Amino acid sequence: MSTRVVDVDLPDRAYEVRIGRGVLGEVPEHARGLLGEKAERVLVVRDTGVPQRFADELVQGLRDAGFAARVCDLTPSEAVKRVETVERLLIEAVRFGLTRVDAVISLGGGVVCDIAGFVAASYQRGIAVVQCPSTLLSMVDASVGGKTGVNLLVDGELYKNMVGAFHQPTMVVADTALLDSLDARQRRCGLAECVKHAMICQSVPDEDETHAGLLGWMQARLGAISAFDRETIDELVERNVALKASVVAGDERESPEARTGGRMLLNFGHTFGHAIETLDGVRAGDEPGLFHGEAVGLGMCCACAAAVSLGLCDDSVGASLRAMLDAVGLPTRVEGLPGSDVIVERMGHDKKAAGGSLRVILPEGLGRCSIVTDADIGAIGAGVGVIRAD
Ligand SMILES: NC(=O)c1ccc[n+]([C@@H]2O[C@H](COP(=O)([O-])OP(=O)(O)OC[C@H]3O[C@@H](n4cnc5c(N)ncnc54)[C@H](O)[C@@H]3O)[C@@H](O)[C@H]2O)c1
Repeated sequence: MSTRVVDVDLPDRAYEVRIGRGVLGEVPEHARGLLGEKAERVLVVRDTGVPQRFADELVQGLRDAGFAARVCDLTPSEAVKRVETVERLLIEAVRFGLTRVDAVISLGGGVVCDIAGFVAASYQRGIAVVQCPSTLLSMVDASVGGKTGVNLLVDGELYKNMVGAFHQPTMVVADTALLDSLDARQRRCGLAECVKHAMICQSVPDEDETHAGLLGWMQARLGAISAFDRETIDELVERNVALKASVVAGDERESPEARTGGRMLLNFGHTFGHAIETLDGVRAGDEPGLFHGEAVGLGMCCACAAAVSLGLCDDSVGASLRAMLDAVGLPTRVEGLPGSDVIVERMGHDKKAAGGSLRVILPEGLGRCSIVTDADIGAIGAGVGVIRAD
């Protein structure tokens, strides 16, 4: 077993992302080293989708390292990702006697990482969290960078990630053996975020030009990637985490001033994606509804088409994007969409809408994106048209 390590270089809060098959076994020893001898308890928030044996081994290892461990099970969904769930876990933490020197450990997908991170951010004004992502999407994206939070239901409508905090983890441990049990649709969803990273790779600050090559690296390996070849996937996770780590290190809190190369770039496809992700009645394959990664893939298609309408790039960018999404089995069209005006209005709800004007990330070329504020609503609506299947 070889462990790949990516450093997230933040002043005062630097941490490691450890990647590889079997690395979950390293968590107890590293947790003891990072938390110190005073730490007594860890609250493990486990995703019920993670095979039981991984949770059992983790908990046994933590107990062997001298921690008292309590496991709280969560069956993830966007509906569960709510303030009520955070409150339930905070109450569990009090009952368990968790103190400021102790820690929360997540073992799950992006929903569990976001919730556990927010519990850690808010419990006694902030305690340590170790993120152990268990889906490809959470390994390459949700567990790294410190964004935590939950959705808010307002007048019957779910506002994604409306409540939360920046709270960097103490360590991230991505055990790629966890991906063996992940179903094909969830694997593809993780690949959507990898495609997103490839589509912004040349806009990321990059001293040694490792990130700029991500797009070409992925395009050359689409067969091995969609076949989920183990070695290729480990390298894919490492490269994607490294790209995200560079973005986060340069702009930890998504500053509106960081116009190029900043964290906002990571929202490519997301303003469109969030607006369609929770719509009722949409379908892009055999099963109804859209998962986050599928919505992001479709959102990137919209962004490419909107950029063509605005004269920012030509359609070859969208064509290359669709070829990558097709190759890994992600949808590029969706049935049951409401009118484009409804989608544009929902995009205005998104946090990326700044002060009343719509702000979107649009491509300027293949691998290059930039932030467009005050985007023309007509062009945005035209962008949505490209994913309409009926
Ligand atoms: N904080 C961030 O920076 C950030 C970034 C991207 C996405 N997100 C959030 O992440 C969430 C999506 O995350 P996700 O795609 O991981 O979805 P998810 O958390 O809903 O997990 C997907 C499914 O996989 C199951 N699962 C988890 N691990 C498994 C395993 N090892 N084997 C088998 N099944 C397993 C889960 O039980 C669930 O049914 C969204 O809520 C999104 O907003 C956050």
